[in-house]
Amino acid sequence: MKNVLIVYDSKFGNTKKLANEIAAGIHEAGGIQCKVENIKDLDKGEVASFDAVLFGCPVHIMRATRGITGAIKKASKEGLDGKIVTTFETYMGNHDGKALRKMEALLMKKAPGARLVAPGFSALVDGYEGPLNAEDAVKGKEFGKTIGLELLK
Ligand SMILES: Cc1cc2nc3c(=O)[nH]c(=O)nc-3n(C[C@H](O)[C@H](O)[C@H](O)COP(=O)(O)O)c2cc1C
Repeated sequence: MKNVLIVYDSKFGNTKKLANEIAAGIHEAGGIQCKVENIKDLDKGEVASFDAVLFGCPVHIMRATRGITGAIKKASKEGLDGKIVTTFETYMGNHDGKALRKMEALLMKKAPGARLVAPGFSALVDGYEGPLNAEDAVKGKEFGKTIGLELLK
């Protein structure tokens, strides 16, 4: 069975919620196991056993968080070759896409052997602390399904 790891950073819980929506979409694709994990719980060597690894964070000052870039570097060192990788972000204002592009550029640099699916997914939050925008939560689930189907190809 295919196995997906979704690694997220989150201050108020909205990016975690988005990670869970994406996981629900991946499950809908059928026959895929999915683990959703906070960056703080990412164990050494853990990424090796997964077929795809997703990285997501909130946009902080128009950038990806240090926590998620650290997780990308750690995972890249441990080997993302041949794995599907993609990214997601939550944002409040008009800066959607900035954190995604940072994460994508870092993945291309640190893990050139990975199969990057870009662009990743941007979801709006309806306030600094959330909640996650309802329409974008649905779209996040659809994004997950797309990734799941890509993995099953
Ligand atoms: C320190 C900080 C900086 C932020 N900077 C931005 C920003 O530049 N652009 C933006 O759209 N949202 C910004 N936000 C809002 C976050 O994107 C929002 O709090 C986040 O998406 C919520 O996700 P979380 O619950 O997973 O932390 C910022 C939030 C914090 C705490």
